[in-house]
Amino acid sequence: SSVPSAAGGRAQGNSTTTAITHISSLITNDPSLGEGPLGLIQDAAIVIDGDRIAWVGATSKAPATDNHLDAAGQAVIPGFVDSHSHLVFAGDRTAEFSARMSGKPYTAGGIRTTVAATRAATDEQLEANVLRYLREAARQGTTTLETKSGYGLTPYDEARALRIAVAHTSETTYLGAHIVAPEFADDPGAYVDIVTGPMLDACAPYARWIDVFCEQGAFDRDQAHAILSAGKQRGLIPRIHANQLSYGPGVQLAVELDAASADHCTHLTAADIDALASGNTVATLLPGAEFSTRAEWPDARRLLDAGVTVALSTDCNPGSSFTSSMPFCIALAVRDMGMTPDEAIWSATAGGARALRRDDVGYLRPGARADLALLDAPSPVHFAYRPGVPLVSAVWRDGQRI
Ligand code: NIG
Ligand code: FE
Repeated sequence: SSVPSAAGGRAQGNSTTTAITHISSLITNDPSLGEGPLGLIQDAAIVIDGDRIAWVGATSKAPATDNHLDAAGQAVIPGFVDSHSHLVFAGDRTAEFSARMSGKPYTAGGIRTTVAATRAATDEQLEANVLRYLREAARQGTTTLETKSGYGLTPYDEARALRIAVAHTSETTYLGAHIVAPEFADDPGAYVDIVTGPMLDACAPYARWIDVFCEQGAFDRDQAHAILSAGKQRGLIPRIHANQLSYGPGVQLAVELDAASADHCTHLTAADIDALASGNTVATLLPGAEFSTRAEWPDARRLLDAGVTVALSTDCNPGSSFTSSMPFCIALAVRDMGMTPDEAIWSATAGGARALRRDDVGYLRPGARADLALLDAPSPVHFAYRPGVPLVSAVWRDGQRI
């Protein structure tokens, strides 16, 4: 519904203002604006001015605006910040998933199947896939999404993936070091030279971040160190696929290189936890991967109790975690990883923003981007309480309803 604004009630500028009122629970993620770590405001209103949040507070104090929407007791949260996905791919791996569900283990080797399909795809096919999963994620409340290369593994195919991705998100990650390209199976050193040389040259213009899969069957500590250091010299910021399938050096390397995030963190020693607690690196947990590979859950409780900043993301990819659903990841994290509903909601919004070193998303406070989701529920606790139910009823990104 729309009501005319009172003269002088408008925020500054020529943009249109919209108020959403009677929000049962508004999650601001700013403790100075509301109760607890989520900065919860009850019976709240939020004012959008153009692409930004102009005001949050009690419905009774809401300023006059051009447009008005009555939330009628529903909750509003910041749009989800999915800080880890792999959307530039072709083909699928249904057979591999079915084999796993009858007892076969997950290995990094399956990535080769997707590399072959991705290389064979046209630009148009790859872009259509990216758009399909971006839209799917948006319908489920995701308004910021990071995505990676890593299924091309040649300078041409990696740069192509990033060029396609960067047209749709500014959060792009160069993952030439996903696995050693099949052509270099007998000479991984030569592949690392390409990743740090011509492939980096081709990809750096399209990427903000650089990532390495540091794992048995992928890249070891020294290789990961060389690759991330080369990326840093080109102005890319490191993040690492670390300690997913086994204990290993990835997490401590991430902290040492001041990586924005160590992702997966499934197999952690006490020293790994200490390193994360003393550094600036966010631990990004990806429960869709443990779900789809039938692996042990990461222990979020242990990380949180140690004071580590935790993000939750989907890892959406055709091999280990073919879900674009942040609500699903929240439900898993609460049920199986020791997170409270409030912690999981924070990690899926502000936590993801921290993992992407952003403060304009993940929060609903004046000046932030107007990226938010209206829920068909009185509280976001319902994401875990009512798993599998589509609770996101409307989404705004940059102030536009999508
Ligand atoms: O994050 N761990 C490495 N990469 C992906 C899986 C990629 C694949 O299996 O295709 C992940 O789980
Ligand atoms: Fe991943």
